[in-house]
Amino acid sequence: MERTLAIIKPDAVSASRTGKIVAHLEAAGLSIRAIRMLRLTETQARAFYAVHAGRPFFASLVRFMTSGAVIPMVLEGAGAVARLRQVIGATDPAEAAEGTIRKLYAESKERNAIHASDSPETAAREVAFFFPTETLVATSD
Ligand code: CMP
Repeated sequence: MERTLAIIKPDAVSASRTGKIVAHLEAAGLSIRAIRMLRLTETQARAFYAVHAGRPFFASLVRFMTSGAVIPMVLEGAGAVARLRQVIGATDPAEAAEGTIRKLYAESKERNAIHASDSPETAAREVAFFFPTETLVATSD
């Protein structure tokens, strides 16, 4: 079993799309192992997206990600990193495949409903960013 991180973004949370997105993830075989709701500070958003610092969209991305509540969650399943990427679709909803979460719920390339870790290495860093080890629920005794 593999773990990855998803974040339901402020556009989807404020539009009350959380339930539909979670149902979509669970139907795709991804189980929630940890979940919380918070509003990111500017410092946290800049740190989380540090890999994009210097990109033209960085300042706007930080503004958007701090504009309202977000819901990070740890998802577990076979090949969870790739599975989640497949289920959410392309960054730009105009390019996302039919039936993907971004095709269904994203507003734009920036306001794109959900974030997903892009590799197992990134997933480990991103899970640790929001969930210290002791907050992760054991899956068996
Ligand atoms: P995410 O998967 O969270 O990773 C980085 C985010 O930056 C991305 O989703 C989008 O929200 C945003 N992003 C990436 N590329 C662009 C772009 N060209 N213009 C605006 N926002 C972008």
